[in-house]
Amino acid sequence: MRELKVKIARGNKNFSEFSVQEKPRMSVLLLLDEILETQDSSIYYESVCRSSICGSCAVKINGQPKLACKTQTSSLPENITLEPLDFFPLIKDLATDKSRFFLELNRKLETWIHPSKPFSGKDEIMPEEVSAKLYERERCIECGICVSACPAASFTNFMSASGTQKALRFLDDPRNSKEAQEKLIAVLASDEGLWGCHGVGACENFCPKEIPLTRQLAESRREIIKLILRDWFKK
Ligand code: SF4
Ligand code: FES
Repeated sequence: MRELKVKIARGNKNFSEFSVQEKPRMSVLLLLDEILETQDSSIYYESVCRSSICGSCAVKINGQPKLACKTQTSSLPENITLEPLDFFPLIKDLATDKSRFFLELNRKLETWIHPSKPFSGKDEIMPEEVSAKLYERERCIECGICVSACPAASFTNFMSASGTQKALRFLDDPRNSKEAQEKLIAVLASDEGLWGCHGVGACENFCPKEIPLTRQLAESRREIIKLILRDWFKK
């Protein structure tokens, strides 16, 4: 096993350096735990699920945004530099505050069902192809990687690939009212939505859930144009 040389960002462009003996099947999160437990209890990073579900451990690993719990040290060179994600406010060392961004996004898009009719009191079965489509849109874990990796999401008002996924998830939901869907179509058809993407593709390259974001963005643009034309001809 190798002797890993690890540099960890400590704020204000300072780094702490550590040497760690690599272990079999060691993830970057286990590497951080090892440093915390045996060398420096003051380093700060976040993790909850340790299994690519909560998104809290997203950091830059040798310059690339990744989940620390999903990245094996065996896939990396022996010199490993760990930094916080770009774009989000820094909490400390490797931890960033993504909660405000996602809270505002969810509030803006109203990511909940606005029922078109009162609840009947009985189970209403959703067609399988619709629930499969919604499930695919629900796979985003709000890790923030596609936000921090995307120049458009960082420097313009583009809501990010994660944001468009959320808007499309509620647009595709047949339980949502027509009025709510019209609002989502309006935001998706703007520079904040699908037309804000500049096609860089960083979202899909780095998304840890391997969501085919660029293909979905292109397909969704066609769907939105069809919906706008349908409504226009109805008038
Ligand atoms: S779309 Fe992928 S990269 Fe973006 S927040 Fe969701 S899981 Fe993370
Ligand atoms: S700790 Fe939850 S995604 Fe890594």
